[in-house]
Amino acid sequence: MNKPVNVADFRALARKRLPRMVFDYLEGGAEDERGLQHNRQVFDDVRFQPRRLVDISERDIRTTIFGKPLSAPIIIAPTGLNGVLWHEGDLALARAAARFGIPFILSTASTASIEAVAGAASGELWFQLYVVHRKLAEQLVKRALSAGYTTLVLTTDVGVNGKRERDIRNGFSLPMRYSARTVIDGVLHPRWSCDLLRHGVPQLANFASNEAQDAELQAALMSRQMDASFAWDDLAWLRDMWPHKLFIKGISRADDAERCIALGADGVILSNHGGRQLDSAIAPLEALESTTARISAPVLLDSGVRRGSDVVKAVAMGAKSVLLGRATLYGLAAAGEQGVDAVLEIMKDEIDRTLAQIGCPSISNLSKDYLWTGGGISLERACHAEIST
Ligand SMILES: Cc1cc2nc3c(=O)[nH]c(=O)nc-3n(C[C@H](O)[C@H](O)[C@H](O)COP(=O)(O)O)c2cc1C
Repeated sequence: MNKPVNVADFRALARKRLPRMVFDYLEGGAEDERGLQHNRQVFDDVRFQPRRLVDISERDIRTTIFGKPLSAPIIIAPTGLNGVLWHEGDLALARAAARFGIPFILSTASTASIEAVAGAASGELWFQLYVVHRKLAEQLVKRALSAGYTTLVLTTDVGVNGKRERDIRNGFSLPMRYSARTVIDGVLHPRWSCDLLRHGVPQLANFASNEAQDAELQAALMSRQMDASFAWDDLAWLRDMWPHKLFIKGISRADDAERCIALGADGVILSNHGGRQLDSAIAPLEALESTTARISAPVLLDSGVRRGSDVVKAVAMGAKSVLLGRATLYGLAAAGEQGVDAVLEIMKDEIDRTLAQIGCPSISNLSKDYLWTGGGISLERACHAEIST
């Protein structure tokens, strides 16, 4: 392939470099993967109605979240096992985000520790929390606080694991289990395999500390089950523990968003986990209008963002910023840190180009006015109507 020019090109390169079971882990969705397709479809179904004869000679794609500047309305989403895609993948993503001037969200299931990432990247770091066990959650939150993370993100859509049938069929797990098939898969992808042999199999780095060696915690970790009893009352417990900004991720409805804010959260992230949990969930974009109508706190959104124009659509519909999940992971898996840099630059260029094309010189001026609503019906209804045909 010539020089990759879009996220899809990086996806193709990632697919080439990674063994099938690793690419499937990165790419796969739950069950029939209709949610995965639907996340893309809703973005495709939103159309712009450009304004002409506007001075677009100078454009500004910067934004702020709680007064902190972002060079573009994008944030790198928390993703687990990044080191399986590229050696020290978390560090590569965090450094690229810092250079680009956007936050990086480190996953609880990272393969570099909270402290290692803080030591390697100078930019704004957020920490994503999975509550596997309360005691462990408390330790992780305290570690993130003392390592200087500025924002906590609680993920709420993994009470039980999604049924990812690609992973089940491939026997994908950490620690990796080797079979004749996985060995052949590795041999057919020598660049990835050589890296693994050179650097060793990545581990869930946040659980290697002394505190996490406690037998009760180890048992919780080994079962890989989240604490499924974590509910609204527990949010207050978490809120008390974390003195900085708190976002709740995995929200799909306006009433839940409202309740999060009433309980002290500073913002919500509309997300269906990139189609990896509940296959028939609505796409976050479909819940955006009703959510921003109910809360004035920042609403972020992810799931299905692959183009700068998707970012512009989400911001025009009321999102403060979007999170990139697979898009930056394709860059990482294809070409490491340079690949992440390239994907971020592509997104920036596409956002800027889209703004110019629709006649909107600044991201802060975006509104639904730039979107075609099919004769005055709400965008949420427009999404549903077009999808059902
Ligand atoms: C490989 C992979 C691993 C992920 N791991 C996590 C995780 O550890 N914590 C979390 O909150 N979300 C996780 N997610 C979900 C992302 O944060 C994000 O919601 C999703 O990727 C957005 O969809 P997109 O990939 O279509 O952009 C993961 C997603 C992928 C693709």
